[in-house]
Order: sequence, then C-alpha cells, then structure tokens
Amino acid sequence: MFGKKKQVSTINKEQLELIKNAQKRIRQKKRLYIHFVIFIIGAVFLTIANSVLGIGEDFTIAGVNWIVYAILAWLFLFTYHFISVFITHKFMGKAWEQQQLEKLVNQQQERIEKLKEGFLKEEHKIVQSQAYKEVQVEAKADKNKKLNELTIIVAAGEDNAIGKDNDLIWHLSNDLKRFKQLTSGHHIIMGRKTFESFPKPLPNRTHIVITRQDNYKAPEGVIIVNNLEDAIDAARSDKQPFIIGGGEIYKQSLDLADRLEITRVHATFDDADTFFPEIDQTQWKEVNRVTHDVDEKHAYPFSFMTYLRK
Ligand SMILES: NC(=O)c1ccc[n+]([C@@H]2O[C@H](COP(=O)([O-])OP(=O)(O)OC[C@H]3O[C@@H](n4cnc5c(N)ncnc54)[C@H](OP(=O)(O)O)[C@@H]3O)[C@@H](O)[C@H]2O)c1
Repeated sequence: MFGKKKQVSTINKEQLELIKNAQKRIRQKKRLYIHFVIFIIGAVFLTIANSVLGIGEDFTIAGVNWIVYAILAWLFLFTYHFISVFITHKFMGKAWEQQQLEKLVNQQQERIEKLKEGFLKEEHKIVQSQAYKEVQVEAKADKNKKLNELTIIVAAGEDNAIGKDNDLIWHLSNDLKRFKQLTSGHHIIMGRKTFESFPKPLPNRTHIVITRQDNYKAPEGVIIVNNLEDAIDAARSDKQPFIIGGGEIYKQSLDLADRLEITRVHATFDDADTFFPEIDQTQWKEVNRVTHDVDEKHAYPFSFMTYLRK
C-alpha cells in the first residue's frame, strides 16, 4: 500500500568528486598491472624469440645483444609508468591537494570569523550587562541620595525647654528675625498644635500641618497630612524644608534631619511643659555658633548654633 520508500541521495558534490577520483585511481592501477603483465610476457617472448628461435641472434650493440637493450628500455618505460602512478600522480593530484588545502584554510577562516563574531557579541553583552549594572547601581545611589536638606529649627533652653501652654516661653526679637530669614520661601512642617499657636499662617512660606484628624480644616494653601513621612514627601521639591516644631514632631523627626539650627537660650525654664529631645553629640557636630548677650530687646543670652549630621 505504501510502496518502497524513495531513497534520497545524500551524496554531495564533494563526495561525488571523491568517488570519481577513486574510480580513476583504480583504473590507473589496473592499467599499471596490465602493463606489468604485458611487460613480463613481452620480455619472456623476446627472450624465447631471440635465444630459442634465434631471431636477431647476431645483432649486438657494443657487444651486448639487442634484446637486453629492448628489455631494459621497456623496463625503463614500466618504471616511469610505476613512478607516475605511485609517486607523481599520487592519489588525486597536486591541484586537488592544493584545492583541498585552500578549502580547509577557508573553512578555518570562516570558523575563526564566526568565533570572533560570537566573541564580539558575547563581549558586547557583557559590556552591556556591566553598563546596565553600573546604571542600576547609580540609579540606586541616586534614589538613596537625599535631594534636600531636612532642617530642624528650634529655640530651646539649656534644659531643652521649648514651650508652655502651647506658646513660647520667651520673646527674643533676633531669634524671630533669624527664623523668618531662614525659613522664608521654604516649606515649614509642623504639628497641629504649633500651627494653632500662630494667629494666622506665616507669610511667604508653605505650611504643612501634621494631624491625625481626618477632616481638619485649615486656611487655603495650608497642606494637611496625616503623618510625618507624607509631610516630608509633600516638601520634596524644596531644597531645604524646615521642621519647625513642636515637641512631638521634633521627637519624631530628629533621626531624619540633616541639619539643626538651634537657638540655645542660656537659661532653664522650670515651668515649661514641652521639650526638645536630647541631642546625641556622637551623631551631630557643631559647625557654627554666634552668641548674643542680654540687651533691652533680649531678656536672656542666647547662641545661634548650627549642627550637621556626622
Ligand atoms: N521653641 C520653639 O522653637 C518651638 C517651636 C515650635 C513649637 N514650640 C512649642 O511647642 C509646643 C507645641 O508642641 P507639642 O508637642 O505640644 O505639639 P506639636 O508637636 O506642635 O503638635 C502635636 C500634634 O501633631 C499631630 N501629630 C503629632 N504626631 C503625629 C503623627 N505621627 N501623625 C499624625 N499627627 C501627628 C497631632 O495632632 P492632632 O492632635 O490634631 O492629631 C498632635 O496632637 C507649643 O508650646 C509651642 O509653642 C516651640
């Protein structure tokens, strides 16, 4: 039903050439063999004709019978034939050998080119992956890199007192001026209670008020958030957002801040109810201090001190 499967020739041009040459070689050897047999028979025949039948018995060259010359001449021809088959035209000939050699060289060169190409591709991939890794590392570093300098600004007594009954304990004119000068044009982050201690929002600053209340109402332009992280996020466009208090917010943000601007009031305040957290001197280094004495506008001596995180 299915018949015989048709044989598909798998012999290529090169194999065909090899077969042809092998056949040619067989023919060459066959001819040499026939030549050898004819030579033996011929030599025997000539010897018999000369010595038995006496043909050309008297014909000599330089004293040697002609038959010796004839057999030697034939032997020479046979030797030439033999050399031509087994030495001169060995296997498929010089041209064929040269052709095969060139073919081999070309194949090797092609292989080298392919290997080179593969190597270059591999190298490209490695370089790309390395570059990718570097870009990733840089991107990660950029992500981790803080884009702004979160700054805490506070006025605190020697005992870290900062307020009482939701108000400041002192009135220091130069401190207020400095507060205005440093914070103007920036985002100011504060707890709800500090915000409520102001008669109205401070001019020329973006207020961010932190409260746990859901529907806290504030004047237009005041940003209300429900936690410190959102407050910092809301100020991300600012190169130097300020945390301006009060006690609860200072406590939560001290570990996150990069810079402290402290007005240290050189006095203690026993009746204070709100305090700034202790500054860990191992974490912070003082980089600037400007001291101010008591005068008619300032009831306490104080120092403007700047700390940077170590
Ligand atoms: N000396 C200074 O430089 C200085 C500066 C600023 C303030 N102060 C003084 O500090 C005092 C006020 O400080 P304070 O500690 O009482 O209050 P505050 O820190 O100003 O505000 C506390 C309020 O913030 C909200 N809050 C705090 N943490 C929160 C969180 N993690 N998530 C959501 N909301 C959060 C809560 O609001 P809700 O209750 O609405 O949820 C909380 O009641 C006042 O006496 C003020 O005059 C002094």
